[in-house]
Amino acid sequence: MPDSAPRRRLLPLISHAGGRSRTTCRFRCGDACFHEAPNTSANEYFGDVFTAALSRRNVLRAGAVSAGASALAFGVGAAPATAAPRNPRLGFTSVAPNTADAVTVPQGYDHRVVVRWGDPVVPGAPEFDFAGQTAEAQERQFGYNCDYVSFVELDNGRGLLWVNHEYTNENIMFAGYSDGAAADLEQIRISMAAHGGSIVEIERVGRTGAWKLVTSGRRRYNRRITASTPMRLTGPAAGDALLRTAADPEGTEVLGMLNNCSGGMTPWGTVLTCEENFNQYFVGGEGAPEDVKPKLRRYGIAVQGDTRAGNRRFDRVDERFDLSKHPNEANRFGYVVEIDPLDPDYQPRKRTMLGRFKHEAANTRITADGRVAVYMGDDERFDYIYKFVSEKRYRKGSRRHNDTLLDSGTLYVAKLTGNSPAEEIDGSGALPEDGEFDGSGTWIPLCDATTSYVDGFTVAEVLVHTRLAADAVGATKMDRPEDFEASPVTGKVYCALTNNSSRTPEQADEANPRANNRYGHILEITERRNDAGATAFGWKVPVVCGDPEDPSTYFSGYDKSKVAAISSPDNLTFDASGNLWIATDGQPGTLDHNDALHAVPVEGKYRGELKTFATVPYGAECCGPFITEDQKTVFIAPQHPGEDGTVEQPQSTWPNGDFPRPSVVSIWHTRGRKIGS
Ligand code: FEO
Ligand code: CA
Ligand code: CA
Repeated sequence: MPDSAPRRRLLPLISHAGGRSRTTCRFRCGDACFHEAPNTSANEYFGDVFTAALSRRNVLRAGAVSAGASALAFGVGAAPATAAPRNPRLGFTSVAPNTADAVTVPQGYDHRVVVRWGDPVVPGAPEFDFAGQTAEAQERQFGYNCDYVSFVELDNGRGLLWVNHEYTNENIMFAGYSDGAAADLEQIRISMAAHGGSIVEIERVGRTGAWKLVTSGRRRYNRRITASTPMRLTGPAAGDALLRTAADPEGTEVLGMLNNCSGGMTPWGTVLTCEENFNQYFVGGEGAPEDVKPKLRRYGIAVQGDTRAGNRRFDRVDERFDLSKHPNEANRFGYVVEIDPLDPDYQPRKRTMLGRFKHEAANTRITADGRVAVYMGDDERFDYIYKFVSEKRYRKGSRRHNDTLLDSGTLYVAKLTGNSPAEEIDGSGALPEDGEFDGSGTWIPLCDATTSYVDGFTVAEVLVHTRLAADAVGATKMDRPEDFEASPVTGKVYCALTNNSSRTPEQADEANPRANNRYGHILEITERRNDAGATAFGWKVPVVCGDPEDPSTYFSGYDKSKVAAISSPDNLTFDASGNLWIATDGQPGTLDHNDALHAVPVEGKYRGELKTFATVPYGAECCGPFITEDQKTVFIAPQHPGEDGTVEQPQSTWPNGDFPRPSVVSIWHTRGRKIGS
């Protein structure tokens, strides 16, 4: 499928706080950056306050780490643990920064759209009809705004794509749309049906790295998950009074998932899809009970003023979104959701053991003694990094056993301490005298399945009001933790800290070293003894993002005249050589060019040599990415192309030259080389 040929005059994107466009802020985050950051706790940015919780650390099973941590038990993902080159280097020439309404790839590569918003998913679904959309059709068609992408290869040479549908841009979905209060009720139902996720069967095009949608036959795995799909609440908080509502007096079944941003895959082949900015779907906070309001506020839910203004107003078709009537309904969103793409009858599980916050992603490693660690970020200015370690061991091949792994274990939050004097971290981005932003850290336990380690909190309260529990133990305030990914070569774990323009020079610390951090940075975590079950770790900041000519940037000391500009790192993946791939969300508002997929070696003498592999269409952020196990394809998902436009005045016509459609794209080398080699 070609990129759009006809070019309409494209209006400049309006830069907003955090580097996103005005519309992204409104529709995805509910203008989060325009409200005070919800974390008003007195937690130090760094400190040495060890809580009562820490002193109990030694009783935790998860703290018992065997020596000689396995060098094989690294994270799962696309890339297998193979013999990696000592000095990996990327073999393509960077794509130049641009504002084209197209996907652009390096010389020698090609790309093809795999599946678009509105394409039929469930067999029998109608073809997309932009002017004649219905909720009944959308429930069976590919949803809106693709974010996390994962891929499972099937025995027959085909594959399954799982894709998150994070949110909807009603302004470019419906002609004449103004807001949720005025919207036609069917438009609201369509938006609800366009949220969630899709599973679609795809097939290879010839013997290339290109893939296309399977459009006929049984397609027994194809499935849509929406904002109304019944899901089971599992883990220690399931059934607690905090999760009971009039419609679900048992507190064990929820309808739908919301704002699923990034995710991860488990070693047993299931998808973890993460609910992020769920706060913006609720209204009526001003009418919630007074004792509930501080908890709502900590999650960014409005509790005073006109809480309906600017909302999608799902409450107009489903009363449960009105907190003045159903104050517990918001407690049932903000979880990691597990789905088995190979079981079409699998009821999605919201795993309460992994805590409730604005979950960005959830990626796993196996611990030295065979348990499962899940790394997670809470994407909000000044919020935290978390880790879960299961109580039980992973059993290869036992789906029934592995389906229980995420329901018991220990939930931790991270505290990071720098090793340079505080006065050397002035917020300018200047390196301290020891030449590195680095230090050590501790995983502070919050609770396990039966015991809370936070004074004044029950286990259920820790798991439902996780942000407040983490405030109480002195966790480190970070610059919006987004995706996590473990290197398949070294086991080191990387986190994208996307930006935080609210951090002041006084609030700069060694792990978040730049004030007014518009461009973001990358954190590299090395667990003690390289064991994902450890409760202590070392860390470094290998990349401080931005235009390399900006003195506040850092690329592991690599020659900055030879690296590409990058801003707002978001989704991560690795290739089999151990190169880190970084998709961005916010370059248009901070560097004045389109978002992109970059890659950078993180080991060897080319560590820091960052290159740009692909750019996405005008107004889009770059989601995915996923590199297939054979290293022949990378999937990306351009999300919200042309999002500041309207139907009448589109800012993008990608991919087909008529109206913008969020889509998944496959990219491959035309001579069959491995991606990036
Ligand atoms: Fe949906 Fe934190 O990005
Ligand atoms: Ca240092
Ligand atoms: Ca994201």
